[in-house]
Amino acid sequence: MIDNIFDFIGGNHGQWKILKMEPIVGETLKQAPYLKIVKSSTVKSSEGVWSLKGLISNIRYTEKEEKEKLISIQADLGRPEATKAALIPIKKSEVWWTLAQDERRKIFEAQSNHTKTGLKYLPAIARKLYHCRDIGEPFDFITFFEYAPSDSEAFEELVYSLRKTEEWKYVDREIDIRLIRE
Ligand code: HEM
Repeated sequence: MIDNIFDFIGGNHGQWKILKMEPIVGETLKQAPYLKIVKSSTVKSSEGVWSLKGLISNIRYTEKEEKEKLISIQADLGRPEATKAALIPIKKSEVWWTLAQDERRKIFEAQSNHTKTGLKYLPAIARKLYHCRDIGEPFDFITFFEYAPSDSEAFEELVYSLRKTEEWKYVDREIDIRLIRE
């Protein structure tokens, strides 16, 4: 049984109310009032105004020491106090994907400090990364974050810092969807 695939459905129902949808780069998605997240399959969902599919995969760039640090401090999704969330689908450019693995890791961490910066915001921000490049989806990644209202400013600071990095020069499409738990 496949249990690592999820649908993110923008429509009239869902656990999350959509507060704001802001296209950061590239084409936006249609406005929708709610986001529903459900465990799914490889079959394309026809529900809602839009639906995105992503799967939980193995890590690509994280090194042993970073992995241990992440595991020791990260929080799970679903904390009752984490009533705010962000769904940020991201597509990277063809130039990014033609780079070799070591070149991508260099940009991701040595030049952009993605993990080093992110770690400063744990455990306040809970995160989940879904992959979708290889399953014919419009985005390469779906990123999802949950946090308490008191950590909203910290989350803004985090996305602001990441968007200024070398890594983000390879981001072709990004939509910042902010949510509140219903
Ligand atoms: C990937 C950490 C916040 C977008 C990763 C990876 C780590 C990480 C360790 C690499 C996974 C791997 O080895 O494959 C963190 C931490 C954060 C954070 C600790 C703090 C909350 C963010 C934010 C965004 C984001 C706010 C979006 C605005 C991504 C994307 C990838 C990624 C798109 C996939 C990159 C790729 O494979 O090319 N993150 N991250 N992250 N993260 Fe973050």
